Amino acid sequence: MARVAGKKAFITGGAQGLGACFARMLADEGAKVAISDINIEGARETAAAINEVHKDAAIAIEHDVTKKEDWERALSEANDFMDGVSVLINNAGIGTAGSIESETYENWRLTQSIDVDSIFVGTQLAMPYLKQNQPASIINISSVAGLIADGMMVSYNAAKAAVWMMSKSIALHCARSGYDIRCNSVHPVFTRTPIIDPLIQHGGGGETGEAKLVRQIPLKRLGEPEDVGYCILYLASDESRFVTASEFKIDGGITAQ
Ligand SMILES: NC(=O)c1ccc[n+]([C@@H]2O[C@H](COP(=O)([O-])OP(=O)(O)OC[C@H]3O[C@@H](n4cnc5c(N)ncnc54)[C@H](O)[C@@H]3O)[C@@H](O)[C@H]2O)c1
Repeated sequence: MARVAGKKAFITGGAQGLGACFARMLADEGAKVAISDINIEGARETAAAINEVHKDAAIAIEHDVTKKEDWERALSEANDFMDGVSVLINNAGIGTAGSIESETYENWRLTQSIDVDSIFVGTQLAMPYLKQNQPASIINISSVAGLIADGMMVSYNAAKAAVWMMSKSIALHCARSGYDIRCNSVHPVFTRTPIIDPLIQHGGGGETGEAKLVRQIPLKRLGEPEDVGYCILYLASDESRFVTASEFKIDGGITAQ
């Protein structure tokens, strides 16, 4: 039996990296997937690759998560294509580098807008769809940076910590309202996607840059997108039916130190 058969997943930032991997893994386990991204070409490529293997399982939707009107249209398109939305994966995100002295206010606002405000706006707009498609699951992609700080990540630390606690508030509201809608946050460490390229460059590039990241991780390797994807499969499926308001660290042990 496929683990997420019948699930209808809306995934933001699905053109590449983690979001594209989540879409593939969910489709492989029986879900329909709506892949939204500001990069529509990338989203189309991800959807086409999935549809080659699972006919009509995926749709690509152009979507800037900072725009309310985009959310309204994207959710409606996804609902039409999948005949509902039962899983919302708030994955689109960016990170800027800067300390409290060097970070610009523009980068601070941009990070909060893409990483935090979008989840508030999008989840609020998705609630009617999720209520119609219970049991439902909201999965918010935070980061270990929401749990442990770095002097050069003031905007990203603040944004990902906000996602962590917002997820718990959403979860408690749903539980107390009697909805079978769960909400959890996922906290990856450095995982092999384009988002960590600037960090590798900053550390000297190539193997040298990668080694500087790996040195911080007890399991002594970078995360692979699938490492996070297995957590997403669990949270999207009914296997996690008693799990809400929790945080899942996919971090090779880094937050234990
Ligand atoms: N890769 C890691 O090491 C890592 C670690 C912890 C957390 N995360 C988080 O995982 C999530 C996915 O990151 P990733 O590693 O796949 O990065 P990525 O840069 O490969 O992918 C991010 C995707 O989000 C999209 N996006 C950016 N701004 C958008 C917007 N305004 N509207 C819609 N889409 C937009 C991009 O086009 C891209 O496809 C992010 O929230 C990131 O903060 C990643």
